[in-house]
Amino acid sequence: MSVERLEDRLIGDRARVDARLDALFTDRMATEPRLDAAMRHGVLVGGKRLRPVLVYAAGRVLGAADDDLDAPAMALELVHAYSLVHDDLPAMDDDDLRRGQPTVHRAFDEATAILAGDALQSLAFEVLARAALPRLPALVATLAEAAGRDGMVGGQALDLAAVGGRPDIEALATMHGHKTGALIRAAVRLGGLVAVDESDPRLAALQAYAEAIGLAFQIHDDVLDVTGDTTTLGKTSGADAARHKPTYPALLGLDGARRRAVELIDLAVDALAPLGSAGDPLAELARYMIERDH
Ligand code: IPE
Ligand code: IPE
Ligand code: MG
Ligand code: MG
Ligand code: MG
Repeated sequence: MSVERLEDRLIGDRARVDARLDALFTDRMATEPRLDAAMRHGVLVGGKRLRPVLVYAAGRVLGAADDDLDAPAMALELVHAYSLVHDDLPAMDDDDLRRGQPTVHRAFDEATAILAGDALQSLAFEVLARAALPRLPALVATLAEAAGRDGMVGGQALDLAAVGGRPDIEALATMHGHKTGALIRAAVRLGGLVAVDESDPRLAALQAYAEAIGLAFQIHDDVLDVTGDTTTLGKTSGADAARHKPTYPALLGLDGARRRAVELIDLAVDALAPLGSAGDPLAELARYMIERDH
């Protein structure tokens, strides 16, 4: 599959999920317009929509229909958007810029950003729970586990606890695997579970793939924080070093971090072998994960 095809697929999937996310806000009246505006700012303005793209790609590989993948794709992006709104708060990373725009607490205010994040997360579970899908309890549990103490939130807590310290490579992998890897694994698993039962061996292949790309994705995010410029990134470059964040480049150097990301992507592509050529779109996405410039 050519690079153009991947680009087309990214554009198409982004447009698909964006239209459906937008409809969540236009299909019903706002209880409090400022809260709605803050939620929309958090989820709809900018962003690559990589988690929805992964839901669609993983689901399609195992034969799921796009219509059945919409709710998990939206739910993942809503949880991700909430995680970014809270990640940027003064009590956490204290960032002013996100997706090329002022962060939600900057564009609105801190209390509104906290509430917008809370409501984005609730909306995610509402959207998923209302979907007429097989294995719905497993889908909801997968998202909940990935979002919470054993997933993203647990990883964010590890991240905050590690500021100024120098965790070893294993501790760093655990932190990244939780704060970022958990939602990426959930994206792939949700897509897969829409199509097949837990016992399908292809889910194990997808799981190994997701594990590797999840870590590689955050390593590349750490690398971009060093090498990227603020305009291209849409968030302030150099923020990790300024805040003494433990990162892969800080521990392994820039080249060491880049090498580790490439090794992980090779592992991810190898893990797709049981899927044969059906896995090609996922292999392409894996490479994109560490070639992207923002
Ligand atoms: C940024 O995620 C935060 C991390 C988990 C590294 P993305 O790079 O996917 O951010 P958006 O959604 O495109 O803004
Ligand atoms: C974000 O990690 C992980 C989340 C759960 C949001 P970062 O703090 O590195 O993400 P950016 O660089 O602000 O996007
Ligand atoms: Mg952070
Ligand atoms: Mg941050
Ligand atoms: Mg970062």
